[in-house]
Amino acid sequence: MPADVSLDAATASAAAAPSTGSSFLNFLGDNQLFQAGFGLLGVGAAMGIARTGAIWGTTMLRRRMLVSLEIDNRDRAYEWFLAWMAHRANNAASSASTARAAPWVRSHELSVETMIERRPNGSSSVFFQLVAGPGTHWFKYKGAWMQVKRERETRSMMGGQQAGMAVPWETVTLTTLSRDRKLFPELLAEARDLGMQGQEGKLVIHTAWGTEWRPFGKPRRKRPVQSVVLEPGMSEKIETDIKAFLARRQWYADRGIPYRRGYLFHGPPGSGKTSFIQALAGSLSYDICLLNLSERGLADDKLNHLLSNAPERSFVLIEDVDAAFNKRVQTTADGYQSSVTFSGFLNAIDGVASGEERIIFMTTNHVEHLDPALIRPGRVDFSVLIDDASPLQARILFERFYGGGANETDVSPEELETLAQNLEDIVAEKMKGGQRVSMAALQGHFIRNQPKDAVARSRDLFRE
Ligand SMILES: Nc1ncnc2c1ncn2[C@@H]1O[C@H](COP(=O)(O)OP(=O)(O)OP(=O)(O)O)[C@@H](O)[C@H]1O
Ligand SMILES: [Mg+2]
Repeated sequence: MPADVSLDAATASAAAAPSTGSSFLNFLGDNQLFQAGFGLLGVGAAMGIARTGAIWGTTMLRRRMLVSLEIDNRDRAYEWFLAWMAHRANNAASSASTARAAPWVRSHELSVETMIERRPNGSSSVFFQLVAGPGTHWFKYKGAWMQVKRERETRSMMGGQQAGMAVPWETVTLTTLSRDRKLFPELLAEARDLGMQGQEGKLVIHTAWGTEWRPFGKPRRKRPVQSVVLEPGMSEKIETDIKAFLARRQWYADRGIPYRRGYLFHGPPGSGKTSFIQALAGSLSYDICLLNLSERGLADDKLNHLLSNAPERSFVLIEDVDAAFNKRVQTTADGYQSSVTFSGFLNAIDGVASGEERIIFMTTNHVEHLDPALIRPGRVDFSVLIDDASPLQARILFERFYGGGANETDVSPEELETLAQNLEDIVAEKMKGGQRVSMAALQGHFIRNQPKDAVARSRDLFRE
């Protein structure tokens, strides 16, 4: 635009130049080339001044009349704001024909956020949320127009000094008239409420995203602790331990002891280790930070950073700890070598540079493969075997499943009791012969069968 303008102006002034008085100037004026050059020079200077003036003017105007708010992607408000905008856009779309004055968003650049939700039974669902993509968008909020600029900085990566995957730096900048500045806090509060609404009474799982923790998928419904049937007394024992720990923060601080605790749940697959940790986190209103030690790009320094910077009120969960270090070098299917070293991991858990506060849960199917250095107190303070179904556990699970009128079965409560007793006896008898069944297998079996069949066919489930 300025280029076009200056060209036109140059030809105009070149034509006007010969009217200048002195002979020297006339001479110069006769020189077409010089004329044009001189004209251009003058116009250029004038344009320069004008442009500086214009920029200065608009800057002043902006300063006086506009107000901007920048939110970067390290701030929680960033996600909230994008979700809030998407929510308004959706609402506006569904009511577009009826409510003319509905708040709306004018966006032509969208980006998609894919969320994957995994349910405890292994199934998963994927859904998409369309949010404002990088670019400029406009919307009207409480009568005020706002401009939203979402920008992505690709050169300077966040945590660029650390090796491996980095998260691009992103910002959204909201601009509106100065007189409407009071709307920003209102808008952010609305976005926060919407963002938190979905999480209330729910379990939030975070996963590592570069060097940051980010919520993964939708917040899940909490699972009641009693729904995970452990050995009698075990669940209470674990709960008491962790509650006592949580209540002793000051005690630790007074003695200068790092406020950390590590739990190890070991035992055969499908015995309820993961389910119990989830239920426990839910009941204490803690989030879960899921850490995968064999993740691509995870190195010692990043691991240390992640462990020291877990969100408030969260448990760090490391599943299958044996798997990450049972071979000298962990190699994924495509030949990529994970670069978390065992010593790096130990140091991240309780070295000098590790965070002051943290609760770690680890699970494994093979406690015998674990290095003694990992399970020494200070790294693992509470280790517990969560085993295959005991006769009593099988019975309780059966009663939970079919009792309480929850199932439309034609079996009377008395009959159910007899069946439950039969199942308990079968499990006890099989155990004597060295055969066990996992709680997960029982659960699956109960889902597929009516109570009578479930007990009658239960013998096939056992394994050595
Ligand atoms: N003790 C239990 N009480 C109730 N349900 C259970 C129990 N153990 C397992 N289940 C059910 O079995 C399924 C698998 O359980 P979970 O994932 O907790 O097992 P896990 O011990 O973590 O197994 P793995 O070692 O393979 O990770 C879940 O759907 C859960 O509901
Ligand atoms: Mg598990």
